Amino acid sequence: MNDELVPDDLKKAYRKKEILETEKKHVVPTVGHYYEEPVLFVEGEGATLKDSNGNEYIDLFAGICTTIAGYAHPKIVATLKWQAERLIYTSTLYSTIPYPVLARKLVQIAPEGLSQAYFVNSGSEANEAALFMARKYTNNPYIIACSRAYHGRTTLTREISSAGWRSVPEPHPSGVRFTPYGYCYRCHFGKEYPDCDIECARYLKEVIRTQTNNAIAAFIAEPIQGVGGIIQPPKEYFQIVHEIVKEYGGIYISDEVQTGFGRTGKRWWGIQHTGVEPDIITMAKGFGGGMPIGGFLTRPEYASDYLMIDGFATFGGNPLSCAVGIAVLEIIEEQGYLEKASKHGEYMKNKLKELQEQHNLVGDVRGQGMMIGVELVRDRETKEPASQEILTVMEITKKKGLLIGKGGLDGNVIRIQPPLELTKNQIDSAITILDETFSEVEEKL
Ligand SMILES: Cc1ncc(COP(=O)(O)O)c(C=O)c1O
Repeated sequence: MNDELVPDDLKKAYRKKEILETEKKHVVPTVGHYYEEPVLFVEGEGATLKDSNGNEYIDLFAGICTTIAGYAHPKIVATLKWQAERLIYTSTLYSTIPYPVLARKLVQIAPEGLSQAYFVNSGSEANEAALFMARKYTNNPYIIACSRAYHGRTTLTREISSAGWRSVPEPHPSGVRFTPYGYCYRCHFGKEYPDCDIECARYLKEVIRTQTNNAIAAFIAEPIQGVGGIIQPPKEYFQIVHEIVKEYGGIYISDEVQTGFGRTGKRWWGIQHTGVEPDIITMAKGFGGGMPIGGFLTRPEYASDYLMIDGFATFGGNPLSCAVGIAVLEIIEEQGYLEKASKHGEYMKNKLKELQEQHNLVGDVRGQGMMIGVELVRDRETKEPASQEILTVMEITKKKGLLIGKGGLDGNVIRIQPPLELTKNQIDSAITILDETFSEVEEKL
């Protein structure tokens, strides 16, 4: 590579102080960072990140559940270079090779019948596009979303996200209705699984009958809520909900922005663990390997009237992002990530359950594959969310060289969604760090 051509302004050996000051001066505050003193990352390899002071961190959060193949994966770097040297960009007004090749590859790993793909730049856009298509197809405005859900930051995806992910009360003018999600640790109905008869799922019928015109365009849900706090309903939840959605003419959308691409282990898509066959799968994050891409897979009948006037994105499906998408899918297959996520996930979850036995701070451990949540509580009986304590946990783990994510409506759930490149040794080190950290925090409780 000819480094001489890279702008000096980029290559300069910057000091962290200068970068943070520049951010403060020239970047809007919505670009916020984790930690009292933000970390400045400059390099990464595998599931390890290096900061500007040379400190290394085990990454359990993959940016934000995104860098599935880890950092600086040679196949991704080579593909980026190869494609950039040929064609970085032209719009979808013209055919390019990577777009349909990626579409075909995705169809090969998709649930039966999802044979058409559309690419945009992000998860929000993917959900917007899927919901637009569903409304157009059904000629119905009603969309059902789940309590505690997060689906993005565009206008419509804010509306289908739970209060808690919106800073100001935003109206729900456009036919969005909410139904309870299956959250057994804090059951909405005060019941216990399995004697509950999965009332949370059955309640959807009440929502549709009392808040729509007895028909809906779409139901949208994650198989495991990510931002919501790694909440995984029992699989019957999805089966019951799916049946109701179909009864009222709706299109079932599985938002797999976080759960897709093997993260949940054994299967490519989270919904495949539930026995439900979705009509649309929306995706983003993982398959870009860090490049911006989003999209959906759907059945041809829904796509047949989704025309050029309905969907277009200048950068959607650009050659560079799609080329990397192809590389990421190959890496997942070559490295056996589906099996690895399952094996490592089970190992890690068991270790975390052992920590739960030793630490009162840990109220619940849940999730599947490499999508694990650790819900922290101040008191096991009252389940008071440890929303402050988790911040201390994050500060301490950072000092010890471990990066974790945070989620949940009360911000008290540790999110573990690492690159699938994470090694068993790294899992063991992470568990030791969490164990020490929980002890330190509990001393102050
Ligand atoms: C489930 C889910 N859907 C959609 C989105 C929005 O994706 P993006 O940030 O790429 O717009 C996110 C982002 O976190 C997500 O977790």
